[in-house]
Amino acid sequence: MKTSPRLSLNNGVLIDQLGFGLYKVPPADAAGLVTMALEAGYRHFDTASMYGNETGVGKAIGALSGFGGSGAGGGSGEAAPSLSREDLFVTTKVWNDDHGYDATMRAFQTSMSNLGLEYIDLYLIHWPCARRGLFTESYRAMETLYREGRIRAIGVSNFQPAHLERLLETAEVVPAVNQVELHPWLQQDELRGLHDRLGIRTEAWSPLGRGQVLEDPVVVELAAAHRRTAAQIVLRWHVQLGNVVIPKASSYTRIRENLDVFGFTLDASDMAALAALERNQRTGSHPDNVN
Ligand SMILES: NC(=O)c1ccc[n+]([C@@H]2O[C@H](COP(=O)([O-])OP(=O)(O)OC[C@H]3O[C@@H](n4cnc5c(N)ncnc54)[C@H](OP(=O)(O)O)[C@@H]3O)[C@@H](O)[C@H]2O)c1
Repeated sequence: MKTSPRLSLNNGVLIDQLGFGLYKVPPADAAGLVTMALEAGYRHFDTASMYGNETGVGKAIGALSGFGGSGAGGGSGEAAPSLSREDLFVTTKVWNDDHGYDATMRAFQTSMSNLGLEYIDLYLIHWPCARRGLFTESYRAMETLYREGRIRAIGVSNFQPAHLERLLETAEVVPAVNQVELHPWLQQDELRGLHDRLGIRTEAWSPLGRGQVLEDPVVVELAAAHRRTAAQIVLRWHVQLGNVVIPKASSYTRIRENLDVFGFTLDASDMAALAALERNQRTGSHPDNVN
């Protein structure tokens, strides 16, 4: 079975470079899809309280060996692999309405109870919501939980350079990750450079541009040249850039295909052709417009 290589975060915690994203996965489908992804070799799962599917994620994880979740099986009908909690990496996020110290503490407890886990591997502030002015307070709550051992790594999502700068004025723990929209049409070079300087891992959300980037003629041409799929070309590009990636897919064929990107290489001219696709085009919201 193929699994993803792991990368080190700035506190030494290891994260699978390629994980499974759960945005827009209906709650009723989450356990089945996570079980399918586990069978395919995924060990890293990205959910959020806002996705409404933490319970389903916990259910699939709990079915592995009874170390968490509510213990019922997934939806594929096949036996889940035998794994221990340490083999898995689970991310969830605090939602915008739960900013502030106490609200974040409460939101964390709710997520833990939904997931049925003893600890979370990575907890993120979903959006900075700068106009609310509370993300430093949320982060302070996360630092407390981190020190208590309830979270193995803490980080942020959708933070722009100014938000990181503001956070680092008061933060005692440098965020391990900033999860941002990133794909060949929105490459975030400046932000990635800042992350490298600060020791923050870049994690790419919508790594396939929600599927739209897969129709780009350059991607299609590279796929034909490498006898790979368009999704594999884009995911391999992320891997070679050093990004953590969390593609979402709904069928076993695609779930497997997306993990099968560690057996070929894009050369410098392929990487240059993909770099030239930058067009500053988002598929999701700009962080300044989410509050
Ligand atoms: N922090 C944030 O604010 C934020 C925001 C958005 C997303 N995220 C995270 O990032 C994850 C990924 O982003 P995303 O779900 O928006 O988009 P994505 O992973 O870029 O793209 C998912 C879309 O691509 C299609 N797809 C997947 N694999 C494919 C393949 N091999 N061939 C053809 N099409 C394929 C999927 O179709 P099917 O589903 O029909 O297979 C789906 O429509 C999310 O699930 C979530 O965990 C975070």
